[in-house]
Amino acid sequence: MTDSIQSYLEAKRSVDDRALNRRVLERFTAELSGRPEPVRILELGCGVGTMIARLAEWGSLPARVSYRAVDRDAASIERARELVPAWLEASGYTVDRSESATGETVGDGVPKSTTLVARPVDAKDSRTDTSADRSAANADRSDARLEITLEVADAFEIEDEGDAVVAAALLDIVALEDAVPAVADLLADDGLCYAPITYDGATTFAPRDRLDERIEAQYHRHMDDIRDEGSSRAGSALVATLPRHGWDVLAAGGSDWLVRSVEGSYPGDERAVVARVLETMADALEAVPSPELDAGARWRWFDRRWRELEDGDLVYVAHNLDVLARVQ
Ligand SMILES: C[S@@+](CC[C@H](N)C(=O)[O-])C[C@H]1O[C@@H](n2cnc3c(N)ncnc32)[C@H](O)[C@@H]1O
Repeated sequence: MTDSIQSYLEAKRSVDDRALNRRVLERFTAELSGRPEPVRILELGCGVGTMIARLAEWGSLPARVSYRAVDRDAASIERARELVPAWLEASGYTVDRSESATGETVGDGVPKSTTLVARPVDAKDSRTDTSADRSAANADRSDARLEITLEVADAFEIEDEGDAVVAAALLDIVALEDAVPAVADLLADDGLCYAPITYDGATTFAPRDRLDERIEAQYHRHMDDIRDEGSSRAGSALVATLPRHGWDVLAAGGSDWLVRSVEGSYPGDERAVVARVLETMADALEAVPSPELDAGARWRWFDRRWRELEDGDLVYVAHNLDVLARVQ
């Protein structure tokens, strides 16, 4: 892979921004708002912290929140420690950067856990752009406070009692039957699970190619049969699995990714998102034995897709679901 996973996670922020199902997110925000503060949110597999910044910027969080964000990848947490304060400041927060660390490290002196505190700047002072306006409601509360802990940890080995768990683009790469009870164990009574961008069984490209369906089927076979955990239909499986484990599904809906060029170029770094997907697919297909799809035909398909991406002619769509559920 040419670019790091951290650059990919940063680049896909704008793709997720467009894709997120607003109805499911609004229900999540409404469910959080009545709870005693500080509302305790726990994010599993937070990557570089885009969801924290987004929820704060979009005014989706209650005024007082303690937000514990964990990822097992130390480099992603390191990048989150740089990006999250900068993003929050850009969207109208002051951030106390005198991070408090526990002293524990995870190799190379990287702190296992650091905490920073963000407060919305007074709404009447300096709000000029619309995204900042959206978080203005919290700025009217003089006690508004977002305390963020960024932590290197395995999501399924920690202990906590949160009001909500956020798991974005995570539940499609883990074993659902184990993950769903593990999430319940991290929640207080009536706790919520918000699982946006959960992949659900469709990757398509345009212009069409006669090999598209076979390539997609092999890609899904890799997710289902070869990769250690996860499934190509995790989104719908999650909707079916949650009630069997005693959860109420409060809202669910599509959050498809769509990346296309505008006047010949892809917005932001979104070209890198598609490049990463093509690389992941190529690696996956390499590992799937497929007598019906010889290496030459496969190579020609990828070569065509790379050329179309270079020329700004490739459209990429992936079908995801956003799911919000409450543990009974
Ligand atoms: C597809 S990325 C999504 C990152 C982020 N949620 C986002 O949407 O940008 C999946 C993330 O989950 C993390 N991850 C996977 N399994 C994990 C586990 N057991 N514990 C903690 N993090 C995990 C990976 O390191 C990666 O950062």
